[in-house]
Amino acid sequence: MTDRPLDGKVALVTGAGRGIGRAIALGFADAGASVCCAARTQAQVEATAEAIRARHGRAMAYSVDVADNGAVPGMVAATVKMFGRLDIVVVNAGVNGARGNVSDTDPDAWRTTIEVNLIGAYYCAHAAVAALRQSGGGKIIMIGSGIGHRGTAGNSAYACSKAGLWMLTRVLAQELAADRISVNELIPGPVETELLPADPAGRAFMGASEWLKQPEDIVPLALFLATQPAVGPSAQSFSLMRRDK
Ligand SMILES: NC(=O)c1ccc[n+]([C@@H]2O[C@H](COP(=O)([O-])OP(=O)(O)OC[C@H]3O[C@@H](n4cnc5c(N)ncnc54)[C@H](OP(=O)(O)O)[C@@H]3O)[C@@H](O)[C@H]2O)c1
Repeated sequence: MTDRPLDGKVALVTGAGRGIGRAIALGFADAGASVCCAARTQAQVEATAEAIRARHGRAMAYSVDVADNGAVPGMVAATVKMFGRLDIVVVNAGVNGARGNVSDTDPDAWRTTIEVNLIGAYYCAHAAVAALRQSGGGKIIMIGSGIGHRGTAGNSAYACSKAGLWMLTRVLAQELAADRISVNELIPGPVETELLPADPAGRAFMGASEWLKQPEDIVPLALFLATQPAVGPSAQSFSLMRRDK
């Protein structure tokens, strides 16, 4: 593989303002892709795009709430308008804002978690498929969670949202196979970002032997998924965890 395996490709990364999404956006740009960096906070996506340009990459920033279906198609259209095509979508924007046992959680925060992590992912895929087809195929990479496979007490909304995302991954993969569009889940495992609880009690779910990563540690697996052949893996879950999901 060359050191720029994504030369000529166009990637859209949601949640690219910080954390894992920012690292993937930078990694994909370093690999040659033109990248649309999307999230709600304009200053953060501008900063990611600027960092890419400072490394001589091609990037644009787009401010969007992925839970707003009226706004999501504009993100895809702006990417295609700027770079001429779309090849890779990283569905990464996510929140975990409803921690606590079911009996204690705020119903509005619970709903918002589902709206961003699951319904937002659906909106992004729904809006992107036509552009991917237009490119003759592509990759959708869903950033999932081990919690969506095994469940964790005190994380019901997040667990349900990510369990739904994994099912969306498998269904979409079946629907898009004939279009040469692969859909896979990437499970990062715990990563030092704003999403991970800072206090030790909030990290108790991790397990003593778990690999606590930096956002950059996720990039090699994201690049692997983005560079597989059209006949390569789809409907699969790839995990960087040290235990069974
Ligand atoms: N950190 C971990 O340990 C871990 C483990 C497993 C999976 N993940 C998953 O990895 C993904 C990235 O999380 P992270 O850890 O990098 O968290 P993060 O540092 O908090 O970054 C989340 C990104 O998503 C964006 N975002 C949140 N809500 C959004 C919305 N409604 N519309 C558009 N963008 C939105 C945020 O920007 P704005 O707030 O400006 O919109 C930010 O850019 C998430 O899907 C998360 O579930 C993380």
